[in-house]
Amino acid sequence: MYRTREELDAAWEMVEQRKQKLEERRQSLYNGTFTNQIDLLGQKVGQLQQEKQLLEERCDVLQRDNDRVYAGHRGLEEEINFLKYRISALDGLHESVVQGTGIHDGSLKKYKCMYPFERIEILPRGEVYTCCSSYVKHNYYIGNFYEQSFDEIWNSERALKMRYSVSNGNFEYCMENCKWLHKDNIENGTDTASTNPIVLRTEQDNVDSWRECYTEKMPRFITLTCDETCNLRCPTCRSTAKALKKADAEILYERLEDVLRPMLRDCELLGALGCGDLFASYALTKFYATLTAEEFPKLKLYIITNLQLLTPEKWEELGNLHAIPIRFGVSVDAVNEETYKLNRRGGDWKRLLENLSFLREWRKREDNNIEFLCLHFVVQENNFRQVEDFARFGEEYGADTVEFQRLGNWGTFSDEEFAWRNVLNPNHELHEEAVTCLRNVMEKEWKVKIVQNIL
Ligand SMILES: C[S@@+](CC[C@H](N)C(=O)[O-])C[C@H]1O[C@@H](n2cnc3c(N)ncnc32)[C@H](O)[C@@H]1O
Ligand code: SF4
Ligand code: SF4
Repeated sequence: MYRTREELDAAWEMVEQRKQKLEERRQSLYNGTFTNQIDLLGQKVGQLQQEKQLLEERCDVLQRDNDRVYAGHRGLEEEINFLKYRISALDGLHESVVQGTGIHDGSLKKYKCMYPFERIEILPRGEVYTCCSSYVKHNYYIGNFYEQSFDEIWNSERALKMRYSVSNGNFEYCMENCKWLHKDNIENGTDTASTNPIVLRTEQDNVDSWRECYTEKMPRFITLTCDETCNLRCPTCRSTAKALKKADAEILYERLEDVLRPMLRDCELLGALGCGDLFASYALTKFYATLTAEEFPKLKLYIITNLQLLTPEKWEELGNLHAIPIRFGVSVDAVNEETYKLNRRGGDWKRLLENLSFLREWRKREDNNIEFLCLHFVVQENNFRQVEDFARFGEEYGADTVEFQRLGNWGTFSDEEFAWRNVLNPNHELHEEAVTCLRNVMEKEWKVKIVQNIL
């Protein structure tokens, strides 16, 4: 017991000091343990992060392998579908030969096609055709851009035979689906951005042999379909993204410089791109950035594009082209965002409208060089009811022409899918309705010219 107040205070003081010491000890023990635990946890987190990174890298590798295998698989599927499509064309040819029908019925005897004398088209593997390859039978190309010089190609035996067949009115290498042989074109001279090649035959066209079909003239029309690179993956055109590898794009660029540039001397219309997008192609945009009106005073350009990449900034960058007359074909296939997304996979509807508005404004300028604008629309099951709105859309964006095109199977659809998509097939349950929609558009008066190869 404490006898005095001082003894009590001293004892209390000791208690307080001990309490403080204990508190300090507790604190240091607590901190130590905690810090250790944090260190341990930190190490664990580090390990887990490393493992996560490794797993992510492995995932990337697997994903790339998977993409490659998938692309290969789809590529093969496309090839098979395309071959089936080709076989059906051959069956058609066989039937028309057996029955003596088709374009060999003599009705074209009065006409000649000028394209084999003045036009070439270069395909991705370098095959050179005299006109759109899908209009020519048996893959009848006249030479190869990567393997031969221009002279070897332009007057090859195959080129001379092709010319002979269109000079004597036989058209034996031409497919019935050639849009120039469409009766509407022959009778009314339907013209889009290109020049109609079908002319009446004259006395001079009666040549005795294919050997007489040699020409010294250079091509007036050149179409580039030599790069499949594109920023979109439209289901009608491809199942997977396609782009040339950098090294191949450099080789293409060199061939464009070495073989194409000299060919452009007398060229009046250079078209691009039939199978990819000019503005997505490294080789083509690099080459186009060097074209000038001074070097090629006769030259005009015809550019078919999805227009997604031709922003005002890109147009500014390609300032060298502003002095060259340009005809634009812009593929749209829809009148609203929803359908656009379906038919132009990877495309942005708002950006399309912005870029179209930019072209419309550019065409109001005094120094405007865009002499023609055509909006394209491939008619299919999901958009045929929009054809009339599309004509209106064309007017709104100041187009000269709106072109409705027939859907083909480019190998991206199975037979069943194609049968459903291709609403213009007379056996399709919606065929009649689709034809009525199109007829209604054709019968109305429009400011814009309507072109079609369907009715
Ligand atoms: C292949 S694209 C190349 C140019 C550019 N990338 C574009 O889309 O305009 C040329 C044209 O072919 C059309 N097209 C694509 N797939 C088609 C198909 N299966 N049948 C018919 N035309 C098709 C496009 O709509 C476009 O007008
Ligand atoms: S008629 Fe058609 S397929 Fe034949 S050469 Fe002329 S454009 Fe080509
Ligand atoms: S934009 Fe043209 S080239 Fe590209 S995927 Fe579509 S149709 Fe094919």
